[in-house]
Amino acid sequence: MTENKTDSTIIEPYGGRLVDLLVPPNEVGELKAKASHLPSVQVSERIVCDLELLATGGFSPLDRFMGKEDHQRVLDEMRLMNGHLFPIPITFPVDPSENIKLGGQIAIRNSKNELLAVMDVEEIYEWDRAEVAAKAFGTTDSAHPLVAEMNRWGSHNISGALRVLQLPSHPDFHESRLTPGQTREALASFGYKNVVAFQTRNPLHRVHEELTKRAAESVGGVLLLHPVVGMTRPGDVDHFTRVRTYKALTENYYEGNRILLSLLPLAMRMAGPREALWHMLIRRNHGANHFVVGRDHAGPGNDSTGKPFYGPYDAQEMAEEFSAELGVKVVPFSELVYLPDEDRYEEVSRIPADTKTASISGTQVRDQYLNAGRLLPDWFTRPEVASILSDSYPPRFRQGVCIWFTGLSGSGKSTTADILTVLLMEHGRQVTALDGDVVRTHLSKGLGFSAEDRDTNIRRIGFVASEIVRHGGTAVCAAVSPYKATRDEVRAMVGSDKFIEVFVDTPLDVCEGRDVKGMYAMARRGEIKGFTGIDDPYESPENPEITLDTVTRSPEENARLIVDTMIKDGFLKPSAMVNGKSESHA
Ligand code: ADX
Ligand code: MG
Repeated sequence: MTENKTDSTIIEPYGGRLVDLLVPPNEVGELKAKASHLPSVQVSERIVCDLELLATGGFSPLDRFMGKEDHQRVLDEMRLMNGHLFPIPITFPVDPSENIKLGGQIAIRNSKNELLAVMDVEEIYEWDRAEVAAKAFGTTDSAHPLVAEMNRWGSHNISGALRVLQLPSHPDFHESRLTPGQTREALASFGYKNVVAFQTRNPLHRVHEELTKRAAESVGGVLLLHPVVGMTRPGDVDHFTRVRTYKALTENYYEGNRILLSLLPLAMRMAGPREALWHMLIRRNHGANHFVVGRDHAGPGNDSTGKPFYGPYDAQEMAEEFSAELGVKVVPFSELVYLPDEDRYEEVSRIPADTKTASISGTQVRDQYLNAGRLLPDWFTRPEVASILSDSYPPRFRQGVCIWFTGLSGSGKSTTADILTVLLMEHGRQVTALDGDVVRTHLSKGLGFSAEDRDTNIRRIGFVASEIVRHGGTAVCAAVSPYKATRDEVRAMVGSDKFIEVFVDTPLDVCEGRDVKGMYAMARRGEIKGFTGIDDPYESPENPEITLDTVTRSPEENARLIVDTMIKDGFLKPSAMVNGKSESHA
């Protein structure tokens, strides 16, 4: 690590100095040896992100996961016990069953079991989910992504001194991974007193380019383009794609001597106003004395009644209120919109109410442009960005998809799936068929039919399907998959928008009458136990994408019905696009 030299032209860190929790290199070996005898705690991606920013001073003056008193005061007053502002609780939740001892030490490991740090366990305290939700996020609605996530955290928090052995490794975009100290050093070399930071979790479009250029102009300084690459809102564009857009823009559309791109491994909370304040504090630690807050900063979208969680300018208000104390000036923007008649961007607060404006929302970008294979227009985004996005998000008919058949044994899953597989190949799809019975001869060889083994089998199929889908393939899965919870797990693994659940709704007596494999007869005689429909439940899907009737319709008719639905939803090119003439399935 480079030394944190304080450069007089750059604002000093909040609280006066950058926290640095990294163990000196000559002590690493000894501590590592010691850690091998300590109880290990494997931590979430969020804790890894928080740990990194604690370690490098991004959260200065905070130097540990919060203890009980700091935590309470942060919830009530947005302050640490030492009086410094800190709006967001930074905690290390654990389960009491993890058997962590007060006064002992733990080895903190990531999901791959790599040793990151050692904590002296100085406090263990219970926390109140509803209180944290209400105070920190202003809501207990689980439509808020953090409130939902918090419900899965352990009931107790631990806190204590940290010694960090290694920072999480980030081989991607290595040259732009700057710690707070490195960011400060790089900024100082630009030679400007003023630094304005821009936070983002989205690809950069023309509107953001306009915002940031205006901001840098207004402070007469350097722009710190400081996107979050840790955790953002679920469903956001992945950071690999986003960073490619940032690079394309900084290289082609900004003056190189006025912009620094630095990637921030922050785990966002989507806490709106409190989060804006937190963002300012973090940016001060990275050397910025100005910060852009626009419309709906760090907003989590709508609550379960369809209303936004926070007002569009609540974050600006909160940021202004504490700006002087934090030593970071707010560069506020009202919503910036495009004026097609004048071919320029302007804030809505500065134009007459009847001016014609244009905008494309994030949802529209995905549904009306990328999924549909349409390139984004020039006025909205630079052509380099449009092409990066269309590479990462090809049209739906080139994205992966999983067709998941569920139903009783003998309901007609495999028969329909076989025909569907052929029809999908006719439409240009690369298909992998995963049939429950077939999978049991290789991938799941040795598994039996207990509830647990069945779930394991389904999860294996689901895992393979999710990988196939991730790589743009088509997975056709046919397995009884009797339990709703397991099917929903698979749906989440694959991604709900790429998962077509097909309920083969054949009545039990019909399946039993067909008894293709002779299994029902055996089950009735008690020769096999736990047979679905006989002495084990089949939980029917509540909202399948497609329900098939195999009594009045043939397997081929059913397969074509699925194909039609997939064409309608954009998962297949209509035949007209495949072979030049349209086809009807009468
Ligand atoms: S955020 O969750 O990281 O805040 P985003 O990347 O969308 O989300 O926004 C980054 C910053 O740009 C925020 O300060 C936001 O308010 C601002 N911003 C984004 N789009 C606009 C817009 N059209 N008008 C004004 N401000 C905007
Ligand atoms: Mg079958």
